[in-house]
Amino acid sequence: PDVRLWGGRFADGPAAALERLSASVHFDMRLAPYDIAGSRAHARVLHRRGLLTADELTRMLAGLDRLAADVESGAFTATVADEDVHTALERGLLERLGPELGGKLRAGRSRNDQVATLFRMYLRDHARTVGGLLAELQQALVGLAEAHPDVAMPGRTHLQHAQPVLFAHHVLAHAQALSRDAERLRQWDERTAVSPYGSGALAGSSLGLDPEAVAAELGFEHGSSGNSIDGTAARDFAAEFAFVTAMIGVDVSRIAEEVILWATKEFSFVTLHDSFSTGSSIMPQKKNPDIAELARGKAGRLLGNLTGLLATLKALPLAYNRDLQEDKEPVFDSVDTLEVLLPAFTGMMATLTVNRERLEELAPAGFSLATDIAEWLVKQGVPFRVAHESAGECVKVCEAEGIELDQLTDEQFAKVSPHLTPEVRTVLTVPGAPPARDARGGTAPAAVAVQLAEVRADVAAQ
Ligand code: ARG
Repeated sequence: PDVRLWGGRFADGPAAALERLSASVHFDMRLAPYDIAGSRAHARVLHRRGLLTADELTRMLAGLDRLAADVESGAFTATVADEDVHTALERGLLERLGPELGGKLRAGRSRNDQVATLFRMYLRDHARTVGGLLAELQQALVGLAEAHPDVAMPGRTHLQHAQPVLFAHHVLAHAQALSRDAERLRQWDERTAVSPYGSGALAGSSLGLDPEAVAAELGFEHGSSGNSIDGTAARDFAAEFAFVTAMIGVDVSRIAEEVILWATKEFSFVTLHDSFSTGSSIMPQKKNPDIAELARGKAGRLLGNLTGLLATLKALPLAYNRDLQEDKEPVFDSVDTLEVLLPAFTGMMATLTVNRERLEELAPAGFSLATDIAEWLVKQGVPFRVAHESAGECVKVCEAEGIELDQLTDEQFAKVSPHLTPEVRTVLTVPGAPPARDARGGTAPAAVAVQLAEVRADVAAQ
């Protein structure tokens, strides 16, 4: 039998080449549970309108339950001739209920409003999954900060030694970025909680159905679409989801890049756990940070998904166009990518070992306490312009002599500036420097403890 939902006005069936191009069922079958949920809600509004009798509704819902179970168990599978998930499930329903009853469900709805609704439902569910995985990664970062509350490290700008910071401060900076990503997911969900079901092909339906009832049954907290053309044509929810997932990928890639550097012989800041590293097929000694590299690589893929989708949407006239079938694969891929990447990445972060001695040894290196000399001079009443010059001269002397700032003699300090008395040494130790930066957001242990508490509360609220 012809399974097409649109055969009536055609004398000839579709060419095989058209069928192959047109088919989306191999990727949109993952929407099947949502399609069936939509059908249940739709059957109820048809019944309330007198378009299904009470008995028909009961049989229809039973048929949909059987179909859902058969999809789940694999007893029902789609074929390429089914074109898409909606067509496949209609065939499944007809096979279970016969053409008389099975053929009644399609009244007052279109694949256009269906697919726009189901795609939202699918992404809302997965936004929650991704949010949970993100919280686990944040938890791993919180764990690292908690385990190393007082370890200093070289803080960098331009990848050059800048000023010493606490390792916990640095790690929590990444956690802050992830907190904003989690917030983006929640805010996206708020905006996406509107159901297009009932928008029909584009103009709504003449059957007097109740889109608000369908929206409520499908869990859309903000009701049904306020404009049926927008309901079927809008895909900004998909693009925004692709952006948030790309942003997560990019934020994770920034952690990844640091882990890759930190795990090198030259840095030696961290050692990755064996179970989260890989070896080489030829070099027996190798231990590679593949998870971090894959995270870095997959960020590219995630932002490719975003730009690809935006390119599909650009200049698309209203309302539904078949181009929109291209909306799903990139976004599904972003979901799949993060759901596989995040658990591995979290495992890597949760199990790495921090080389405390190495971090502390390097924290003051590279004249990273020069700013502390300048700020100490300011506290002695020296204008910052002059203080900056003097501290710079100290660095120049050190470079010429091949020594660090705290190795300058009293005479060398005095020669640079009469204000540089031996007391300046109080700020030239790393344990001395971070605690001084105790304002909100700073690197002092007390300020970092506040950040830790804030991220913890944030994770707990998710
Ligand atoms: N499979 C289509 C999609 O994913 C939905 C079907 C709409 N097709 C149509 N000819 N109006 O966008």
